[in-house]
Amino acid sequence: TIPEAVRIVEVGPRDGLQNEKVQVPTEQKIQFIQMLAEAGLPVVEATSFVSPRAIPQLSDAGTVMNGITRLSTTEYPVLVPNLKGMERALAAGVRSVAVFTAASESFTRHNINSTIAESLAKFRSVLDLARREDIPVRGYISTVFGCPYEGAVDPRHVLAVSQALLEMGVNELSLGDTIGVATPNQVVDVLDLLLSEGQIPLERLAVHFHDTRGTALANVLMALQMGISIIDSSAGGLGGCPYAPGAAGNLATEDLLYMLHGMGIHTGVDLEKVVAATSFIAPLLGHPSASKYYQAATCAN
Ligand code: HMG
Ligand code: MG
Repeated sequence: TIPEAVRIVEVGPRDGLQNEKVQVPTEQKIQFIQMLAEAGLPVVEATSFVSPRAIPQLSDAGTVMNGITRLSTTEYPVLVPNLKGMERALAAGVRSVAVFTAASESFTRHNINSTIAESLAKFRSVLDLARREDIPVRGYISTVFGCPYEGAVDPRHVLAVSQALLEMGVNELSLGDTIGVATPNQVVDVLDLLLSEGQIPLERLAVHFHDTRGTALANVLMALQMGISIIDSSAGGLGGCPYAPGAAGNLATEDLLYMLHGMGIHTGVDLEKVVAATSFIAPLLGHPSASKYYQAATCAN
């Protein structure tokens, strides 16, 4: 049965801006994050405390986190790849984090310079510190539906990584279609395995689709039909991953909201305010927004 309400995890300021060629000024990042929170988004993933050499676009993470005026109704998680990232995040007042690994070895090597097992080992110290600080941790799994280097990915690898993350205390798992190759039948296959054979609680699973080949919304619909109620998206469809060649942005938040609201599914988010946030950031990026809804809404006059 389709859920009555969906929790949207807005990843534009992180997944979006990490992959833009231009360096958006810190002040504008802060304003973008605040506009998204004011639109009613319950979660705005704000930035990453990763190596500034890996992602120079987000090297101002500390200044961004210190600069935002927080709403009590919004969570502002950040990505941390290791203990150093976690310590930097805590020093900047972060109260919610995400660790990230993948279901394929080659992508993990390119993205975080380790094997999957090494990445999980590094997360243990992050999780220990998070537990002491009472901070919730999300676990991202990339390349769930396909890898830019290896091609097809066995859903059993996804299950194994999912179980390892949950065992170490991760609160929520986000299943990433990093390069936007998934089709709806794959969504069924992966979710079936995780839910039935893996006994992973439905409420701990989120889906994260990049829209490289135009299948993201179809995949979301399938996930909804399987009961998933946490969905990642990025305002204006910003995004991609610098270590996933050819990957486009995430499913656009506007396009997701339009479909969910049309289906009578509650989100608590004001679609027109998300359009306003995209209108604010898009001119700084030097290319048009990929969101269909945004294009329709802004070319009408
Ligand atoms: P490494 O080079 O193996 O790390 O990188 P290291 O531990 O050997 O350290 C090397 C240098 O980096 C040292 O500095 C460290 O201090 C520094 P040096 O002594 O050379 O001056 N360093 C750090 N600096 C700041 N913050 C840190 C940090 N850690 C080490 N946290 C590492 C390994 C993981 C650090 C690196 O590869 C990295 O930062 N990777 C991040 C890549 C990334 O952010 N990718 C995009 C996010 S994932 C994604 O987009 C997918 C997702 O959206 C889901 C989906 O779509 O599938 C989530
Ligand atoms: Mg992503």
